[in-house]
Amino acid sequence: MAQIRQSLGSRSIVLIGLMGAGKTAVGRRLANWLDLSFTDADTEIEAAAGQSIKEIFAEHGEAYFRDGERKVIARLLEGGPQVLATGGGAYMNPETRAAIKAHGISIWLKADLRVLLKRVSRRDHRPLLAVGDPETVMKTLMAERNPVYAEADLIVESHEVPHDVIVGAVADALAAKLGCGAMPAPKRRRKKVQ
Ligand code: S3P
Repeated sequence: MAQIRQSLGSRSIVLIGLMGAGKTAVGRRLANWLDLSFTDADTEIEAAAGQSIKEIFAEHGEAYFRDGERKVIARLLEGGPQVLATGGGAYMNPETRAAIKAHGISIWLKADLRVLLKRVSRRDHRPLLAVGDPETVMKTLMAERNPVYAEADLIVESHEVPHDVIVGAVADALAAKLGCGAMPAPKRRRKKVQ
């Protein structure tokens, strides 16, 4: 754990992937285990705009949201080390991808269609899923985005297992990438998550 933190230096661990991939839930737990701060880019965009993402899309449109998303993530990446969860579309922006490459280690949390749909069906705050049949939208996004997400430094499968299991897989992948020794399971080491 200390080795991972040390090898990171000022870089951020950046979680990317589709809506429902588990970026926020896994990111929060990973940060807790690594004793790093956790930042959710969507929450920061909402704070900067003083509006929810749903409201930003409704009042100003997607292009305006994307512009704000790019600026906020560029600013957040200056604040590493941290665990940073990004919205599903963020990594599609070439400038954001380059900034993540320069200031972070990207991890694609990769989940299959069934898992993603199950997870996103629990809440209705995502504007992209409100415009059509969620399965059709998600399939289209997977086709468009998965080849770009595949550019991430690391890819970790986000199966239907407790989040701590995925945190363990992320920790193993990070340790291998950064050349750190074998990791103790996060479950045994982590502090209580709120
Ligand atoms: C989006 C994903 C959302 C949010 C916005 C757009 C996307 O974040 O940024 O609704 O384009 O996939 P999550 O991936 O955290 O749901």
